Amino acid sequence: MIRYTDAVDTIGADRLTGFFVGWPVAASPEQHLAVLRGSYRAFVAIDEETERVIGSVNMISDGVLTAYVPWLEVLPEYQGQGIGSELMRRILADTEHLYSIDLLCEAPLQPYYERFGMLPVPGMSRLRRSALQG
Ligand SMILES: CC(C)(COP(=O)(O)OP(=O)(O)OC[C@H]1O[C@@H](n2cnc3c(N)ncnc32)[C@H](O)[C@@H]1OP(=O)(O)O)[C@@H](O)C(=O)NCCC(=O)NCCS
Repeated sequence: MIRYTDAVDTIGADRLTGFFVGWPVAASPEQHLAVLRGSYRAFVAIDEETERVIGSVNMISDGVLTAYVPWLEVLPEYQGQGIGSELMRRILADTEHLYSIDLLCEAPLQPYYERFGMLPVPGMSRLRRSALQG
């Protein structure tokens, strides 16, 4: 069974392994945990058999009108089971008072996010990979 929780204060970095698949340089588990704990909202999915975190989503926000979802990831062996959708559903349901919720994604994932009422918009980004410690 999969358990979903926003109690990210109760998990340790040792349960956040295997994320950031395919990143040339990854965030460390400690950074991942600090990101979840420092976010406006965050949910994780936990495999109750192993207590391993197998998916996470987080949102940063001004708390009034605007938010951004930097990371949604499900471990490869758990993908395609609706876990990412449930994480998105929970974080969006928890923040219905906000005016705008943005995220960046590759073009093939746009239809996925359209399922949650999101629309494609142009954007800009700058990445500094030297900040990652994984
Ligand atoms: C994207 C991701 C979070 C989806 O989580 P998930 O638990 O596998 O998704 P769900 O089971 O809820 O939904 C599966 C659907 O997502 C689609 N999907 C997943 N990854 C996709 C991709 N890279 N491109 C296009 N569609 C994708 C699947 O085709 C599937 O569609 P279907 O329902 O029509 O069969 C997960 O695949 C993942 O962690 N990918 C790697 C990290 C990533 O790309 N994160 C998003 C950054 S913006």
